[in-house]
Amino acid sequence: MIDRRALLATAAAALSTSAVAGTAVRGQTAEPSLHALATQKGIIFGSALPAAPVLNRGTADADAWLAVIAAECGALVCENEMKWPALRPNATDFTFGRADAIVDYAAAHNMKMRGHTLLWHHPQWFPDWLTNHDFGSRPASEAERILTAHIRRVCAQYPQVVSWDVINETVDADTGELRETSLSKAMGQSVLDVAFHVAREAAPKAQLVYNDYMSWEAGHERHRAGVMRLLEGFRARGVPIDALGVQSHIGSGNSDDSVGFDTAQETEWRRFLDQAIGLDLKLAITEFDVHDKNLPADPAIRDREVAALGRRYLDLMLEYPQLDTVMAWGVSDRHTWLQGRWPRADGLPKRPNPYDADYRAKPLRQAMAEAFDAAAPRPPLV
Ligand code: XIL
Repeated sequence: MIDRRALLATAAAALSTSAVAGTAVRGQTAEPSLHALATQKGIIFGSALPAAPVLNRGTADADAWLAVIAAECGALVCENEMKWPALRPNATDFTFGRADAIVDYAAAHNMKMRGHTLLWHHPQWFPDWLTNHDFGSRPASEAERILTAHIRRVCAQYPQVVSWDVINETVDADTGELRETSLSKAMGQSVLDVAFHVAREAAPKAQLVYNDYMSWEAGHERHRAGVMRLLEGFRARGVPIDALGVQSHIGSGNSDDSVGFDTAQETEWRRFLDQAIGLDLKLAITEFDVHDKNLPADPAIRDREVAALGRRYLDLMLEYPQLDTVMAWGVSDRHTWLQGRWPRADGLPKRPNPYDADYRAKPLRQAMAEAFDAAAPRPPLV
């Protein structure tokens, strides 16, 4: 057993004498941990983590960051390190070092691993060599060879992964149609089915997930419909899929198109989730954060609204006994992917995560704790 209290005490001691980027920081996580609260209900709770803090242990920011991770999480997922651009410098080689660092850290702290992702089937996120690959005179078999070799090798490297995002974001959010990549151009959309079949063979014990960012917000109607068509097709063709990964970048959404902050369409969203479980799929929240881009400047207002929306969302999702995993896409506002990609108009730092930039628990952390506390226990695994 990890002694989480001891970890926090160590972190607090380290931080009381250190400074990060000129700001004094203070470790402060609450007990019981989010992991403990979730576990009581049969839910896995964890976070995305990049390799940087693991590789930079011994520096103040890395240690403060990992203190929160160690105290709160029962599972980790690599933020970028298992994606093709990170693992695959070219068509033949694999570079596992950075992902290994995270996986080893998880093992040392008794945490589960989620795997993200065997194929982010989105042209923007392909490595250049794959986009420009010469598939030769038999493009379908060359594409299938590359895909199959990749999935087999990566699954073999990480047998401890309990749940794989086999395919990520292949439905175009604007049209609901399937995206095209160099792989689908070479072998057709069977690329998706093949990925699941090979994953089942290579990771027979892992949960296999389709993961995407269709959300409860207005403007996601086509995206939801497209994802549902894909899932129904998977089922009709006997594709081995176990769960739908709901990324859950809620709030102002994860693009610049969104307006407002809370545009939830709860009825439509429940219908969508009901359809998914009607296909006998489990549900997972895979990348939770609450984007405050469109909220007023005042941090207290932002924190309150973010917490309230986060609570409403988690309560709704946790009503579904099929939902047994909640992963945050980061723990602290100091390190959030949302900051760089879609800055606020007023230039202020964003506050989408449960801990602030100085690793102090925020109202969102409290809201998450209360949601886990209020959730019904998941049914026991049969
Ligand atoms: C993001 C990472 O957080 C960023 O660091 C990276 O630059 C781009 O990818 N949906 C996903 C995740 O499935 O892989 C994305 O992660 C966030 C949106």
